[in-house]
This record gives sequence, structure tokens and C-alpha cells, in this order.
Amino acid sequence: MKRIWWKEAVVYQIYPRSFMDSNGDGIGDLKGILSKLDYLKELGIDVIWLSPIYESPNDDNGYDISDYYGIMSEFGTMEDFDTLLEEVHGRGMKLIMDLVVNHTSDEHPWFIESRSSKDNPKRDYYIWKTGKDGGPPNNWESFFSGSTWEYDEATGEYYLHLFTKKQPDLNWNNPEVVKDIYSMIKWWLDKGIDGFRVDAINHMGKAEGFPDDPNPEDQRWNTGYKMFSNLPQVHEQLQKLNKEVLSHYDIMTVGETSGVGPQEALLYVGEDRNEFNMVFQFEHTGIDSGVQGKWGVEPWSLLDLKKIMSKWQTELYEKGWNALFFNNHDQPRAVSRFGDDKKYWSESAKLLATYIHTLSGTPYVYQGEEIGMTNVAFDSIESYRDVEILNYYREKVVEQGQDRDEIMKRIHHKGRDNSRTPMQWNTSEQAGFTTGTPWIAVNENYPTINVEDQLHDPHSIFNYYKELIQLRKKHDVFVYGNYELILEEDEEIYAYTRTLGDQKLLVILNFFGGTPTFRLPNSLKVEAKELLISNYSVEENEQIEEVTLKPYEARVYLLK
Ligand code: NOJ
Repeated sequence: MKRIWWKEAVVYQIYPRSFMDSNGDGIGDLKGILSKLDYLKELGIDVIWLSPIYESPNDDNGYDISDYYGIMSEFGTMEDFDTLLEEVHGRGMKLIMDLVVNHTSDEHPWFIESRSSKDNPKRDYYIWKTGKDGGPPNNWESFFSGSTWEYDEATGEYYLHLFTKKQPDLNWNNPEVVKDIYSMIKWWLDKGIDGFRVDAINHMGKAEGFPDDPNPEDQRWNTGYKMFSNLPQVHEQLQKLNKEVLSHYDIMTVGETSGVGPQEALLYVGEDRNEFNMVFQFEHTGIDSGVQGKWGVEPWSLLDLKKIMSKWQTELYEKGWNALFFNNHDQPRAVSRFGDDKKYWSESAKLLATYIHTLSGTPYVYQGEEIGMTNVAFDSIESYRDVEILNYYREKVVEQGQDRDEIMKRIHHKGRDNSRTPMQWNTSEQAGFTTGTPWIAVNENYPTINVEDQLHDPHSIFNYYKELIQLRKKHDVFVYGNYELILEEDEEIYAYTRTLGDQKLLVILNFFGGTPTFRLPNSLKVEAKELLISNYSVEENEQIEEVTLKPYEARVYLLK
């Protein structure tokens, strides 16, 4: 297998708005990030991914860009950015930016021109259509509720927006758009950044003729999803982008591609494909959604998780590369979702970490995950800030009159603001995030869950992450080993081996609060073993042929 730095790296995602505020305006900023670089270095991070920091009216917190060449004034200046990049590099770390080019803000000068008249030279930078039967051009539904089409009085046509109506989709069939976007990407790469996380990129191509979706009742997907996701033209565009721009730099790229299985993902990340290095897939984060899609709240089963992840582990091995994560700024907090954020908070956070960091692929840590930050449940919709949550509530409760408590329950479980409450640095007011009033309330559990306490506690979740990250750096098998599932049918224990030459890891994970017995399969002969890490203390000479596991127990052995 080809060895390369981004396979060996651990990435840390920063959501700048919620990370650290340096000037007391209640909004995280670049100087705030700068002040925490030593913290990230201490954790062992190699690459920092910044969610968007470009100029933006913040309809979707920066995922609606109005100037690709400017820094959002709330976050600082280009000078602050240059200092940050220099300081990141000075500490031996790398920095990747979010690249949002499926759409811009409606306040981007291109769109302002585009909507001004039908014959404006920028008209075709976006996707404009005439309506049908007195309504929008087709039945496609946006990711954030309602139609993907917005009627524009000025010219009497509709423009397409897969996300909010303030995020019009760019027209990638227009060579002028392609040229302008390429120049912008080169500009950032020439500044010396180390790559991109590429937002919603599997939607950059739309079905020709913009047909209606014939299956609007399938709730797993928003109507039209298949007509604007993972189409062949996306790959044509990405291969061209790679050839003309990306391949000229030593960078890493990770595409966000919802709705793909491993075989489709290989079209993006196959080593012979020259598109991206890896993609974020969402099959595993869908296991608690059932048939209702994103907002569904269903019990999840370990067998499903095993089936999905084993498929990804084996089908990509030696052909492509996985991005490993449970958390990001769009997902609820994993310890609340797949662990137990009450009785076994610390144990289950460590178990989930052990899992992510012992699979084949590049692990991503989302801010606060390393201290076990949890979901929030604000009582009032007024406390929420996320446009997806607010639109959902308006559509279901206000417009359709659905049960408020049921909708709030879903928001508590699945809403994106769960991961966007401010980073919990210490026990001082506002968790040390700001001296002002934060743009979204801090989670009230900060007096017990915060960085400062955990830095001092050798048994903390933070120190466990640190140890896991060091293990990856020490043993190649963590990075390059082949994954093999054992105890396939066990409903509580997830166990597997990773093998590289004569190195073998055995990972044993009790995913729930019970005390099941682990039995070593006969096929696995153990002559000698070394316990590399565990989230409980284990007696030195304990045999592993048969072990009763403690709730959420995780162990990783090196076998000989
Ligand atoms: C995916 C991003 O992760 C999410 O936060 C954003 O709302 C959409 N893409 C639109 O850019």
C-alpha cells in the first residue's frame, strides 16, 4: 500500500464560531484559534480543518460565502489568517480549509449580478429556469425544507438552491464559473494551505432536463435527491479539477459525499481515479434514523454498524482510503448518540474513540469530542440558531401544526446545534469561551466537562485520546493494517483484528452497558500479547481466551 502523510495524520476539525473568542464579542475568531494551537499540539494533532472562515452573511454560518478572498470580519483579518497559517506550520502541523463551491451566498457579487437581468453576463453563473403550471420547475426538495426553487420577481424566473434560499447553486456547466473557481483554489493553495475539505461536492452536477422525482414519498431522501447527487458529470468535473489544479500541490483532499456506498465512493477516492484522497460517507451515521431520514430517532443495532463499517473497511482496503468520524458540526455529539452520556460518560466516550482510532483510515476529531462534550436540550426554539433546525420547526410545528414536543425531541436528538455550543475550556463563566455573551448558549454541564480539568487528570478522556493518537504514530499497523471482523454475530461486542506483516492488533469493544463474555475465536492463536490501551485497569496477566467485559470496556492488544 502506498504510504503517504495524510494516511498517517489525525485531523482536528474547528468550527471557528464556537471554538475560542479572543475579543469578547461572543463569536469565536482566528486569534482565539491561535491561542489554542499549543493545546492541539499537545493532543497530538497533525492537521487542522477549519470550517469556513470566508466573508459571509452567515445564513448557514459561513457555508454561504459572499467573498472567497476575504476573511469574515467577525473572525478577523487576512493578516490574522497569515499569522495563523505560519504558526500552525511552525508547530509542525498542517491546515486545510473548507471549500464550498456547490453554491455561494446570494450576497456574492456574482449572484447579485446574475439576478439583476436575464442578459447579464453573470446570469449563467447560476441555474435559472422558468416555472411549470404556475409553480416551480420541478418537485425537488431542499435539504433545509421546502422547494429547491426560489422565484425571483425581478426577472420572473426561479433559481435553484439545494440548501437555503440564500445559497444559490453555481452552474458548473458554465466554463467561466469553472475558470473563476480554479483561480480561487490556486490562490489559496499558493498561500501555502495544505488542502481542502470539499463541501457537498457530490451535488455539483444536476440531472439533465431537471425532471421531476417520480418517488416523492420516499422519506429517506429529500425529493429529487437522486437527481442532484453523485451523477457521472461530478466525476468528470473532479478529474479535471484534479488534473489542472490539485495534482500540482502536495495537499490532502476530503470530499463530503452523502449517499454513497463503498463502490460509489471508490469512484471518488480510488487510487487510480485522481479525484480526492478520501470522502466523508454517512451510511454509519444513518443507523439511528430508520426510514424517516435525518430527523428519525430509532434504536440502532450494533450488527448494522458492523455490517456497514466492515464493508467500508474491506472494500476500500488497498484501493482507496477511509475518513473516520462520528462527530462533526452537522452531527449530534457521538457520546450522547451512540454512547451513554450519563452513567458511563467517560467509559463510552473512550470506547467510541478507541473504535475510530483503530480502524483503517484517517481519524477526524471534532472540537470538544476529545473531552466528551455532550448534546444540549434547550427548552425553547428561541435558543436555537441553526437554519436547518429553525426551518424544520417552522415547517412542522408552525405551518403543519405537528406536535411541538415530538418535534423538539427530534431537535434534541438530531439537531446540528448539539455540536455547535461553545467549546468548554474551563469552569469560569461561559466555559472560558468568551468574556461576552456567546452567540449560542454554552452547555450547562461545563463545570464538570471542560478542558482544564481534563488536562490535569491522567484518566481523562483528553488524555486517553492523546494516548490513542500516540499509538497510531508508534505502530504502523494502526494506519496500514488489514481489518478483519471477528465474532460477526455478537450483538454487544464489536471485535476485530488489524494485520500488517507480523504485527497484529486485537481490538475488543463492548459497545453497551452490559457485561458480556468475550471468547477468543479458535482461529486466533495468541502466543504473547501486550495491552496497548484500555479504558479500565486490567490485571497484567489476565488471559484473553475468555473475559467478562465491563460496561463499555475497550481494549487494544498487540499480539505476537
Ligand atoms: C454541508 C455542511 O457540512 C453543512 O454544514 C452545510 O449546511 C451544507 N453542506 C451546505 O453548505
